[in-house]
Amino acid sequence: MLRQLAKLVADPRRYLPAARAKMLHQLKRWEHHLTPCFAPTAYFLQGQMDIHPVSRWYRPEFAAETGGFFLPGDQVERKITDFHTCDLVRRDMLILLLRTILERKIPGDIVELGVYQGHTARLFHHYLPERPLHLFDTFSGFAETDMRSEAAVTGLQVVAEFADTSVEMVLRRIAPRQPENVIVHAGFFPGTVPAGWEEKQFAFVHLDADLYEPILAGLHYFYPKVPAGGMIVVHDYNAWPGSRRAVTEFLAGKHEIAIPLPDKSGSALIVKQ
Ligand SMILES: C[S@@+](CC[C@H](N)C(=O)[O-])C[C@H]1O[C@@H](n2cnc3c(N)ncnc32)[C@H](O)[C@@H]1O
Repeated sequence: MLRQLAKLVADPRRYLPAARAKMLHQLKRWEHHLTPCFAPTAYFLQGQMDIHPVSRWYRPEFAAETGGFFLPGDQVERKITDFHTCDLVRRDMLILLLRTILERKIPGDIVELGVYQGHTARLFHHYLPERPLHLFDTFSGFAETDMRSEAAVTGLQVVAEFADTSVEMVLRRIAPRQPENVIVHAGFFPGTVPAGWEEKQFAFVHLDADLYEPILAGLHYFYPKVPAGGMIVVHDYNAWPGSRRAVTEFLAGKHEIAIPLPDKSGSALIVKQ
């Protein structure tokens, strides 16, 4: 052990990959003892889904039959990009919802309201590069009017956030494979909705603007444009009071319900009837 450690210190570039592989192997053997230690903390160890090739429970024959994260026989090259490594549940949840959109052949573009630095936008584009992806954000953070309204409606005093971004930064992060399919609508939503969208349909809508006003405006605008089987995911339903309130108010008297999803900030899924 000491000899191995000495080798590692003397020549880390050479010995680090093997040491890392060995350590990961040992971790796998000890996971039943290790994971409970982290369970009471803010961050705990979550297993990869069983359809992920690194999972201990990965069954190649099941993945071959179902496609796992992908559709069997799909001709399009789809990639899964990582983001927020403390919330892999969210990544997998979003991918499996997009996979369902493909499987059920739900027509329409993809839209995200609340892009910030483009992490989720990157995931959407690289999994569904053939569908137009519309990105709505001020790219300068929360709007004053929305923050004032948040205090009045929910009592939450919001501090200005998310200004450290730009359209260029987001496009650099996404590195689009089909640049014509990444369409940016910069400015205050809903003022940035383009003219002539009366007939437009959206298969998948991601509302991640945190606050009551933009989430409610997003629901009002996009809901009628989502065909049956299409989906609206509202992030922060179990974290931000305005997000939850907008969903509850909007769905009152409608057939759809908000299905709570257990990603870190608790999204709500609305499947259009
Ligand atoms: C939590 S961040 C989005 C994070 C991103 N979806 C991700 O996971 O990487 C929220 C974003 O919503 C945007 N936003 C909030 N209200 C808005 C409005 N009325 N119009 C446009 N963008 C808004 C903010 O500028 C901010 O970038």
